[in-house]
Amino acid sequence: MKTHVRGIDMAFDIRGDGMPLILLHAFPLNRTMWQAQIDALSQECKVIAPDLGGFGESDARDEPSSMQILAKDVLALMAFLKLEQAIICGLSMGGYVAFELFRLKPAAIKALILADTRAEADTAEGRENRKAMAASVLTTGVAPVAETMPEKLLGKTTLERKENVVQQVKELIRKSTPQAIANAQLGMMERPDSTMDLANIECPVQIIVGDEDLLTPVALSENMAQAIPNAKLTVIPHAGHLSNLEQPDEFNRTVKDFLGELK
Ligand code: MLT
Repeated sequence: MKTHVRGIDMAFDIRGDGMPLILLHAFPLNRTMWQAQIDALSQECKVIAPDLGGFGESDARDEPSSMQILAKDVLALMAFLKLEQAIICGLSMGGYVAFELFRLKPAAIKALILADTRAEADTAEGRENRKAMAASVLTTGVAPVAETMPEKLLGKTTLERKENVVQQVKELIRKSTPQAIANAQLGMMERPDSTMDLANIECPVQIIVGDEDLLTPVALSENMAQAIPNAKLTVIPHAGHLSNLEQPDEFNRTVKDFLGELK
């Protein structure tokens, strides 16, 4: 489905009934990375998976996709769907957007699932790397990103044993436009540190991380779990940064258990 929010057409999937669960995708992917979750979790609740600014079938803007812009789009989508509250599940960049949603409108969040993400802002080196990719992708295109990023996004087990997932992630990246990638890198680069917000998150929180995640290592999730008053941490074995794609059954089981606790 598509709706017009805040000057862009925003695409999203919606399936199932009951408690709304919004799935926010990682960079540089799109909402189809959630297919296994949409299939499994829509039996339990109303699953909504949008394409964030410029990715998938949503329009890009002519400016950096700040996490605040992306979060405001999600709030506008919630308003369109007449949802006052939802469970927000963000993986990596989706988690950065979830922190921004918390700052903008905590009452809109019934519970949070923070998967393979971090509360910290970028380091100076991280910001330089993002600027470099934002510039190069506009000249060399998406192909080099699709070739090199899966090695960082996926865990050792997936890289060695699940060629279908490696190919799926390359294909997902190839579908992203250079502009969406550049805008998101420049947007993520500016995101504020969220560590000081963690102690103020009052809703139930499920943190998920793959034990082979190199981009947001387990220790960062352990720190978040300690800092958030009502948080639980699940470490998924044999998964890297894209734990939902690498070990979907385990990921879905963790989310289903968490949803069960919220009822
Ligand atoms: C992601 O998976 O969304 C990215 O790793 C986020 C980032 O580049 O910080």
